Amino acid sequence: MADVAPTNSMDDIVALCRRRGFIWQSSEIYGGINGFWDYGPLGAELKRNLRDAWWEDIVRADLVGPDDKPFDVVGVDCTIIMNPKVWEASGHVGGFNDPMVDDKETKQRYRADHMWVREAQGENGDSIFVAIQLGSEDEAMTAWNHYDQENRLPDDIHNSLSKAVKKILGGAYTFKDRPFTYLDVDDDQRIHVIGESASEAGTLTEPRMFNLMFETFVGAIRDEENKVYLRPETAQGIFCNFNNVVDTQRVKAPFGIAQIGKAFRNEVTPRNFTFRSREFEQMEIEFFITHPDHAGDGGLTPSDWYAYWRDSRYAWWQSIGLAGDNLQLREHDRDELAHYAKDGAGTSDIEYRFPFTAPGFGELEGVAHRTDFDLRQHAEHSGYGKKMQYFDQERNARYFPHVIEPSAGADRGTLALLCEAFTPTPDRQGSKYVMKFHPRMAPIKAAVFPLVNKDGMPEVAESLYKELRTDHPVQIDVKQSIGKRYARMDEAGTPYCFTIDGDTLSDQTVTVRDRDTAAQERIGIDKVGAFLTEKIGG
Ligand code: GAP
Repeated sequence: MADVAPTNSMDDIVALCRRRGFIWQSSEIYGGINGFWDYGPLGAELKRNLRDAWWEDIVRADLVGPDDKPFDVVGVDCTIIMNPKVWEASGHVGGFNDPMVDDKETKQRYRADHMWVREAQGENGDSIFVAIQLGSEDEAMTAWNHYDQENRLPDDIHNSLSKAVKKILGGAYTFKDRPFTYLDVDDDQRIHVIGESASEAGTLTEPRMFNLMFETFVGAIRDEENKVYLRPETAQGIFCNFNNVVDTQRVKAPFGIAQIGKAFRNEVTPRNFTFRSREFEQMEIEFFITHPDHAGDGGLTPSDWYAYWRDSRYAWWQSIGLAGDNLQLREHDRDELAHYAKDGAGTSDIEYRFPFTAPGFGELEGVAHRTDFDLRQHAEHSGYGKKMQYFDQERNARYFPHVIEPSAGADRGTLALLCEAFTPTPDRQGSKYVMKFHPRMAPIKAAVFPLVNKDGMPEVAESLYKELRTDHPVQIDVKQSIGKRYARMDEAGTPYCFTIDGDTLSDQTVTVRDRDTAAQERIGIDKVGAFLTEKIGG
């Protein structure tokens, strides 16, 4: 398993993604657009493998609960634009806001709750606060840890703070002991705060709420009445179809509804490659369980189901290649919980240590006990009322089921797979990097090469390639030296390369090269299909 990749490896990962066609900037020929990313041929396969694995393992699998009883999860595919009342009911219109602070001088915009300030004191006793946006608590923790160990801030933060402070305080100054405190943006403090690149203090506005939902209009008239939103999560499509699923499918609680699809958030500070994008894909499950009041004898509690999903989702990420120390499960503190989850069984994040969060972690998936909040909200706002309740035949009772929600990001998942796979190989001839994807995730499962493009080798390669591609995504490559072809496949993360050489024609064997070790062995050409299926699955 890959060691913790150093922070600066992110530049190499981004460059590899670009060079090999995993991920490109959207509309690159026009200079790109911040927060939007395209997947090239290899990236599209990688992300599809992730999504397919999720769907196969959730919707198509025979799942068994903590009581060893089977249960169902069915899939839906809902629209991106929904009736705007959905977002009032869900709380997104009123509450999906981030408090923002604008710097009037530099036009920079900061998230007030991600802003940290440090106090600096000049020779004459004047003191100012310098504000810096660290993005998340993790980033602040990273800076703190660095400070504790080295007694200085990381260079980039130190330099940007020093520049700003020098501008105001002129000569010598000292920073106050603690490296950062939260910005407490009351008037008094704000007057002394300078933005990171501003030349004077007091140019920050008061925090203002900024809604993260993208708006558009349906129909010809662009007025308030026709305003709609691009969904900021896929979950609400599931809740709105709760009754449709219950009425048309043979499901009984506990059961799940799953959806994979695009979501959109006008993130204030899209950053860290695809990690925080403005258009991204979610893989969400809403799992409906008996209301705790009706659990009955032997019934499982929300806490049991919460623990079940938390642990099985964590194990799933491990099963597709994030098996090392870079994956962790973090239970939220009580005061971190969403308002609806406060009385519930808990919330946890499955997190990955990305090069840009290291030594901290970034969220891949959240598992939350949402209580019966969403169904109740929709029952009320839609006027459906009690008709939205679930009728439990076994208990002869009607209720709003409680919900456990495992909500994952397909783009963050794909990025974690890329970061985990990325392995510098300074000692390997030809290949600077090898992408050690789990075979189930690898975009190309095998490549077939004729050693040279003559002497009957291309024909044999072509026929082996045709045989293999009926069962697996494989490629044939006849161009350039064999070393360059291996290097290309190493960066694509292709687990096996089969080479047809002079001996193949006489003894019907080929070489198999293993991506991870670069070791080669010979096997019979008629055994290649079975070999590949055994190694990577059918
Ligand atoms: N329905 C619950 C919900 O949407 P969330 O924590 O806001 O919860 C779930 O999002 C997952 O979606 C996150 O764990 C993350 O993987 C992904 N996600 C959220 N915002 C994202 C963004 N701006 N860019 C990429 N992925 C994002």
